[in-house]
Amino acid sequence: MAGQFPTDFVWGVSTSAYQIEGAVDADGRGRSIWDTFCAEPNRIANGETGETACDHYHRYRDDVALMADLGVGAYRFSVAWPRVQPTGSGPVNAAGLDFYDRLVDELRAHDIAPMLTLYHWDTPQPVEDAGGWTTRDTARRFADYAGLVADRLGDRVAYWVTLNEPAMMTMLGYGVGVHAPGRQLLLDALPTAHHQLYGHGLAVAALRAAGVAGRIGIANNHTPVVPAGATPGAEPGPADRAAADAYDVLHNRLFADPVLLGRYPSAPAGFASLDELAADTAALATIAAPLDFYGVNYYQPTRICAPDALAAELPPELTDSLPPLPFGFAPFDDSVPRTGFGWPSVPPGLTDLLTGLTERYGTRLPPLYVTENGASYPDEPAADGTVADPERVEYLTGHVAALAAARDAGVDVRGYFVWSLLDNFEWAAGYGQRFGLVHVDYPTQRRTPKSSYHWYRDLIATDRPQ
Ligand code: FCB
Repeated sequence: MAGQFPTDFVWGVSTSAYQIEGAVDADGRGRSIWDTFCAEPNRIANGETGETACDHYHRYRDDVALMADLGVGAYRFSVAWPRVQPTGSGPVNAAGLDFYDRLVDELRAHDIAPMLTLYHWDTPQPVEDAGGWTTRDTARRFADYAGLVADRLGDRVAYWVTLNEPAMMTMLGYGVGVHAPGRQLLLDALPTAHHQLYGHGLAVAALRAAGVAGRIGIANNHTPVVPAGATPGAEPGPADRAAADAYDVLHNRLFADPVLLGRYPSAPAGFASLDELAADTAALATIAAPLDFYGVNYYQPTRICAPDALAAELPPELTDSLPPLPFGFAPFDDSVPRTGFGWPSVPPGLTDLLTGLTERYGTRLPPLYVTENGASYPDEPAADGTVADPERVEYLTGHVAALAAARDAGVDVRGYFVWSLLDNFEWAAGYGQRFGLVHVDYPTQRRTPKSSYHWYRDLIATDRPQ
């Protein structure tokens, strides 16, 4: 398998700041929307928070040693904006930025290329108080912050990612409110997509102005959308197909088209505000700044039907109080394996996704990196202390094969990052979903590489004979 990849193919692992760092009050860090959200009742499973998480802020040397032993060529992590600008504007909090300086040097000392994500959802609370991504001003603030980070780290960071998954911030954070900042704007959340994308474009310009040459991209969550009948086995009808098209716009094209083509997709019924965004051609020119790579986060395909089935997927407190959306989520057949989250495991979805992006965007698509892929399972140590996770090995084996198939089909994909190095704080699901190649015993912070870690290490070693 590994022999199917060129020797310069980048094997990596991925994490994000709020999910692993802990140390929320250290060295002048300001509050983020996730600190606020976690403190509210009934937001996070078991009332858990990222206050300590994996204590990576203090244990980063141990974690880099784990990566060095794993043999990865790159590590994708995020910088917490509230560590760098505690109030979301103004001068740098040097002590906060120092942490990333140390981390980057530690990575480079182990020949691991840093891939730095500027924004993985932890908006400074004062920025949210001023409107967050509902306001255009946040885009400008974000670009200022990007420039500050680049001034300090621009000479040593190999890859820059502006935003992580703006689609999830729009849908989960502002649309249905199951993530911070917990707003329930439904399709009125669409301007938050535009403002994030404008922030992305301004940040690209700020990075280039700070001397970062090459290797700037974005990490978007993408899903192949499959039209389906409302029940397994039912044939999709025209209403199902229209619903699938609307969902494809919302999840995929709303974020990729502006970045790669400089325009929004045509608005499906119910997406009235999309026309207003599409008229903002000045911002679109900024959003479409040429990129050096395009990051794809893939977990699962999505089956979409006409709206009626939506109610089954959302918590009743939401469905009772909100107007209906123009699509519904259809169940997968029971024969499809599920991860611990209940997500369907469909490796060929990754091939379809990458070949689909290549077909749709053609020469406008820069080289691809799979910036996240992985699965959660309820892994626990056996009596002898080892952690066996054969299901994750199977998930990852299938997805690496799907990646090879995409390359065979002509897709220019140059790297693959497993989500995640460590078990960590999985947002609204708290610590219940374990995604790591390395098990974390939270009370003791003991790290135990799982069998998937050893599997990945062997894959990388075979790929890179010494
Ligand atoms: C992605 C997020 C990442 C993690 C994985 C499981 O959507 O980018 O932080 O939560 O899902």
